[in-house]
Amino acid sequence: MEKTYKQWRVSRMPEGDLTPDIFQLSEAETCAPGEGQVSVRVKLMSIDPGLRLFLTPRNAAPLHRDPEDAPMVNPDEIHIGDVMGGFGIGEVIESRVDHLKPGDIVDGRFGWQEFSIQDAGKVAKRNPDFTLHELLGVLGVTGMTAYHAIFTRAELKPGETVIISAAAGAVGSIAGQMARNLGCRVIGIAGGPEKVHWLKSELKFDNAVDYKAASFEEDLRAACPDGADLYFDNVGGKVLVAASGNLRPRGRILDVGHISSYNSDRIDFDLSRFWVNVIARELRILGVNLWRHMELPAIVSDAEDLISDWLRKGALLAPIEIRQGFKNIPDALVEILAGKNKGKMMVEI
Ligand SMILES: NC(=O)c1ccc[n+]([C@@H]2O[C@H](COP(=O)([O-])OP(=O)(O)OC[C@H]3O[C@@H](n4cnc5c(N)ncnc54)[C@H](OP(=O)(O)O)[C@@H]3O)[C@@H](O)[C@H]2O)c1
Repeated sequence: MEKTYKQWRVSRMPEGDLTPDIFQLSEAETCAPGEGQVSVRVKLMSIDPGLRLFLTPRNAAPLHRDPEDAPMVNPDEIHIGDVMGGFGIGEVIESRVDHLKPGDIVDGRFGWQEFSIQDAGKVAKRNPDFTLHELLGVLGVTGMTAYHAIFTRAELKPGETVIISAAAGAVGSIAGQMARNLGCRVIGIAGGPEKVHWLKSELKFDNAVDYKAASFEEDLRAACPDGADLYFDNVGGKVLVAASGNLRPRGRILDVGHISSYNSDRIDFDLSRFWVNVIARELRILGVNLWRHMELPAIVSDAEDLISDWLRKGALLAPIEIRQGFKNIPDALVEILAGKNKGKMMVEI
């Protein structure tokens, strides 16, 4: 093991669009784990749009939560000078607990660093029969979010019509295929003609539309002429307003994420139109918090069984977007917020 390792620290909070220069590279000395701890060499970092929320002071508010609440999506408060937070997967180097040994594969909130000391209770041992990419993506945060939203929150039924935004991204691409496998009609929303084509040709969505096109609202209406039963919302904003107007009476909205507002507080869409749609159609809004799902081992295990079965049969593709090298982590986060990914963005360290 090397004497020192690299970390990315937050040198200032961003204003507006995230730029990589708010992070600063630093070095720390490697040390041994204490009693009840493990040391981990981080191998793969998950790049999640929600990381941008760590860097927005207004998001500190939900952190003062009721102790009964499940953790929020981003339970770590980040201050200037801190190592940037983030979820990853790695290999145990040294262990001071009986149930973990060197060589075991574990995931956890390691932060943006090459090496991490963790309390053993805060890491999860993973099944080495799968690749690290699968464990971090389709069998990790991404796949579990899609599963929890579709199966336990929306209780989706065969024959229903589903609209999904950020459909070419990590969660959206998996959720869309899950809905398709259940026998639903799936309409994806993504940015640009190339992603729209990919959703239809590779992921076999029934239809897809480009939210950046001037004709977006008409295209969406034409894609679901009889309306939809469920809108899986990853983005909020004008896409949420448009999708809510295409739901049938008593339709459901899965509120999974609001990426369109992560870089900015600016409201450039007609929120009142959204609420009118909710009231007129008596829509049901269903919040989704992955970490509540992760607290239910039986459901996590059902999800892993179903997803791994679909992967084996080729019924589920797990698209990934890989960037190489520790130095490229900040760029990867900027890229995902700008929509440069298809599937799950990860950085190999
Ligand atoms: N609730 C939970 O427990 C939970 C857990 C995990 C993730 N999430 C949320 O799920 C969502 C998807 O996360 P992910 O990891 O799968 O990311 P992702 O979809 O792989 O990447 C984000 C995508 O969002 C799209 N996007 C960016 N800016 C946009 C804008 N202004 N309007 C519309 N689309 C925009 C981009 O694609 P385009 O090219 O199509 O614009 C980009 O590829 C996020 O909102 C995330 O916070 C929630």
